[in-house]
Amino acid sequence: MDSSVTSTDRTTVAAPTSASVFIPSPVTPYQGDIARYWDHEARPVNLRLGDVDGLYHHHYGIGDVDHAALGRPEDSAYEKKLIAELHRLESAQVELLLDHLGDIERDDTLVDAGCGRGGSMVMAHQRFGCKVEGVTLSAKQADFGNRRARELGIQDHVQARVRNMLDMPFESGQTAASWNNESSMYVDLHDLFAEHSRVLRAGGHYVTITGCWNPRYGQPSKWVSQINAHFECNIHSRREYLRAMADNRLVPQAVIDLTPDTLPYWELRATSSLVTGIEEAFINSYKDGSFQYVLIAADRI
Ligand SMILES: C[S@@+](CC[C@H](N)C(=O)[O-])C[C@H]1O[C@@H](n2cnc3c(N)ncnc32)[C@H](O)[C@@H]1O
Repeated sequence: MDSSVTSTDRTTVAAPTSASVFIPSPVTPYQGDIARYWDHEARPVNLRLGDVDGLYHHHYGIGDVDHAALGRPEDSAYEKKLIAELHRLESAQVELLLDHLGDIERDDTLVDAGCGRGGSMVMAHQRFGCKVEGVTLSAKQADFGNRRARELGIQDHVQARVRNMLDMPFESGQTAASWNNESSMYVDLHDLFAEHSRVLRAGGHYVTITGCWNPRYGQPSKWVSQINAHFECNIHSRREYLRAMADNRLVPQAVIDLTPDTLPYWELRATSSLVTGIEEAFINSYKDGSFQYVLIAADRI
């Protein structure tokens, strides 16, 4: 890599922060873009939902909307209830992911690759009582997650680091389970699954929840291209996921199409004041079959 690129990336990607140590691994200009994207991200649709109970997510929701809990749109408390309902659905998504991690003991370690502000890590620790290590490219996110862990008094168990998930700072074969929650569309899948396979112990579990383009549609639709441009990401196909897993000792034991389960979240979000403009692309691509929301759980053999 050109050294000028490396030094530029180090100063912008790894703005010195108190809690998060950035030990540079090969960082590409693209990863610098993604770090900057998440360092500057402060969308109400993420922060106001996290404010509901202190679990900050950067992903979407699943499950039916509880219309009784929402009440009527003309009620003054409706917007607050809508935010709480969207947040309930995004935490339900994490619960489903955690359901697929297998039997986790208190002395196990879990890895959240692309951990964002750490909501999934906190939920995993609260469920299993174990250690949870996260990596993100964003120093702001890692600091945020570590601050939340300190506030909750779980900083000895939950820690986020500014690291590249293709080169994680964990020993080989020591991780009981690992996951990507809507973070695998930023990397090459072969590189990603090789790294998960390295850190996971034999018999461990890997889970991803992700949007993927549907090979049955043919190629990425215009909606999928719009989503890629919006998030500066590169959505993979379902076929690529399965192929890259098979090549890296990750054998799928569950592939769940969550598309019908996530549509209620998007349709509710599209009616709210928190819209970001990308809602139509998600709803249309889920409906025309070009895009799918899936959970894939695999055994590390
Ligand atoms: C859509 S957010 C998801 C955050 C979190 N998993 C959640 O569910 O709330 C995508 C995350 O992937 C992270 N990410 C993208 N590429 C990465 C890489 N190469 N290494 C580490 N993290 C990465 C970003 O920093 C960001 O935290």
